[in-house]
Amino acid sequence: MDIEPKKWDDNPKHVEAAERAYQAIQSSIPLSSASQWNVLEIGCGTGLLSMRLSPRVKNILGVDPSSQMISAFNKKKEQYSNIDGVEVLLEREDQLPQDQRRFDFVASHLVFHHIPNMYGTIHLSHTLLHPGGHIAISDFQKTTHSELFHPKDKMEGVERHGINVEEMEDLLHKAGFVDVSVKLDKETEEGMMSFPFLLCTGRKA
Ligand SMILES: C[S@@+](CC[C@H](N)C(=O)[O-])C[C@H]1O[C@@H](n2cnc3c(N)ncnc32)[C@H](O)[C@@H]1O
Repeated sequence: MDIEPKKWDDNPKHVEAAERAYQAIQSSIPLSSASQWNVLEIGCGTGLLSMRLSPRVKNILGVDPSSQMISAFNKKKEQYSNIDGVEVLLEREDQLPQDQRRFDFVASHLVFHHIPNMYGTIHLSHTLLHPGGHIAISDFQKTTHSELFHPKDKMEGVERHGINVEEMEDLLHKAGFVDVSVKLDKETEEGMMSFPFLLCTGRKA
């Protein structure tokens, strides 16, 4: 996948989508008691979601396989001092810094449609959470026309054209999450969005 970080941040659609994800997370995850939380953002990109979460939590570790994205993410440390980015395609716990392997919240936005083995990532997230910890996965929904979400020249690294509600519920349950919910975000419910977004949440018992 070849994404130019500056272009990513300058695209109002990307900024708006991250804001939507943040609002959806805010209404489903108890961020009001998150000031001491350590957070992992999977596929953090340039940090559009982490920047929004940063004032609400203690620390955020962002992971992403793209060196360009992580470099852009780490530039934001000047303004958001509690974020830190690591370049890694996260598949195993021991790829993370030894002192940063347990979290209170795992978040991800617009990434799961790129992940070949979604169960592997969800299962690893469950392992990395403290008991009581939360997961929130935001991505676009698989619909009859969701293959139009990516223009033809932006298909590299796209594993699926959106997220299927039942599949996501199954994967979260199978990985051991409780209080599983996969639902349309509020803005999608209220408007006629051509690409509905889902927020998939669960808690580690
Ligand atoms: C569409 S961008 C979203 C970036 C960011 N989350 C945002 O909302 O601005 C997808 C990101 O996922 C990363 N990515 C691609 N494949 C991945 C994988 N298998 N695991 C984790 N991240 C991945 C890409 O490098 C890219 O930064």
